Amino acid sequence: MAVERTLSIIKPDATRRNLTGQVNAKLEGAGLRIVAQRRIRLTREQAESFYDVHRERPFYGDLVAFMTSGPVVVQVLEGENAVMANRDVMGATNPADAAEGTIRKAFAESIEANSVHGSDSAENAAMEIAYFFSGCDIVG
Ligand code: CMP
Repeated sequence: MAVERTLSIIKPDATRRNLTGQVNAKLEGAGLRIVAQRRIRLTREQAESFYDVHRERPFYGDLVAFMTSGPVVVQVLEGENAVMANRDVMGATNPADAAEGTIRKAFAESIEANSVHGSDSAENAAMEIAYFFSGCDIVG
């Protein structure tokens, strides 16, 4: 297995409830290393562009409104098979389907307010990381 990097976002529902540390503990418990991290407030333009792949989906407008409703924490995670390892510890998109022990099972409020985002492939991870971080921001 290769050491990979993936992008993670702790979403506004989780920052609002002061869960950043608890989410990070689950990420680290899954063997992922937080090699870059920044708390920011997404602009509407940033959220629209980040989620451009979902532009035609019926939930796109609500998703952009939600992601700009409060602070988020953008992170680069590093580890063996990091993309899949992060998706495993996040759990299913809909918390009703998320397995015991996952972040979304523990913390998510709904399919929209689902506490975390994670890249879905190594290719998208590279693009998503570059969207928020430059190489010198990432300290492995
Ligand atoms: P995320 O991994 O950030 O990628 C797109 C997001 O859209 C997803 O998590 C969900 O939070 C959100 N979303 C809202 N409604 C839906 C839906 N019906 N199906 C899939 N994703 C949804």
